[in-house]
Amino acid sequence: MQTLNVNLGDRSYPIHIGSGILARTGELLNQVGLSGKVAIVTNPTVAQFYLEPIQAALSKAGFTAVPILLPDGEAHKNSISLQMIYDRLIAERFERKSSILALGGGVVGDLAGFAAATYLRGVPYVQVPTTLLAHVDSSVGGKTGVNHADGKNLIGAFYQPKLVLIDIAVLKTLPRRELIAGLAEVIKYGVIEDTALFGLLEQQIDKLVQLDSDLLSQTIATSCAIKAKVVEADEREDDYRAVLNFGHTIGHALEAVTGYTELLHGEAVGVGMVKAAALSMRQGFCDQISFDRIVRLIGKAGLPTEIPGKVSLASLIQAMEVDKKAAGGKIKFVMCEGIGKTRFHHLAPSEILAALSA
Ligand code: NAD
Ligand code: GLY
Repeated sequence: MQTLNVNLGDRSYPIHIGSGILARTGELLNQVGLSGKVAIVTNPTVAQFYLEPIQAALSKAGFTAVPILLPDGEAHKNSISLQMIYDRLIAERFERKSSILALGGGVVGDLAGFAAATYLRGVPYVQVPTTLLAHVDSSVGGKTGVNHADGKNLIGAFYQPKLVLIDIAVLKTLPRRELIAGLAEVIKYGVIEDTALFGLLEQQIDKLVQLDSDLLSQTIATSCAIKAKVVEADEREDDYRAVLNFGHTIGHALEAVTGYTELLHGEAVGVGMVKAAALSMRQGFCDQISFDRIVRLIGKAGLPTEIPGKVSLASLIQAMEVDKKAAGGKIKFVMCEGIGKTRFHHLAPSEILAALSA
């Protein structure tokens, strides 16, 4: 097992990464001072594989575990699921020192984290992510929240976990399409911060899809270290943390116009990164060779690189304008300056339309 730290003063926490470490959940929770009651927030898809093992690991360390099963899927990342969590916590008489454990992908993690941030004005929680996306992105950094009918993640809070426990063995049951979607965020870290990671992915991305343990651990650790560094520098996204949105401005818009059903988040980000790199090249920030490498790697991962034909560019721009990153009529983009370096740049909708139509 390897351990990284997110250094945020009294909100600091460890990220443990290893294979088979789910069995050590109880002991690792004890190490960060947790004991007593723990609510395991999960869904039936994940529970069928991992609820029993995690309950056993917790009871071995003296915890009283209370499973809370929510319906699976992004459509359920809402206030109804949140209410279900609050209802159970109240019924089971959870107190300030009781804790919450998120066992699942980003949907479960964001919901459980927001419940923890708000129940009794805040109870401790831990992230046990089970998708690649959640391993490298959503479990680290303390963004929690739910969707509103008018938009994704509109209700939320910054609230850091006490611990992140990443067991790479759980990826064996993850559908291949979800695994590949998670690779989009790994590629993102290479483009924004790390030329060596990008080069490694160019050479060995096939081995990641085949779940090579050593490479997975190494890549997940590198990704988490980059995310931790960004979060440590700008926890509440006053500015720099927005670098993590590379490819997400167009990606989020694509998800919205296709009704959140056609493309997985990582797939939309794959297309978004290609288009953000194209915009960067058009603005003179990115050279042709780097652009070609980015497009090639995203394609090699098995991610889409083109906007689906039926999506109208006008509707896409409209969706970007209502996104929370739009300000003063211009849209804030993370642009890449080749590979491993970025800058922010604001673009008028007409400039984006011209670039996407070219
Ligand atoms: P998800 O949570 O919907 O999980 C994808 C699917 O895989 C689900 O059906 C889930 O039940 C299933 N699953 C999870 N683990 C499994 C396993 N080990 N074996 C078999 N099936 C498994 O999707 P996701 O991609 O993990 O997360 C997407 C969510 O994360 C979005 O809501 C997004 O907004 C959020 N997100 C949050 C942050 C953040 O910083 N908080 C960052 C990125 C994304
Ligand atoms: N996934 C973007 C962030 O955590 O800021």
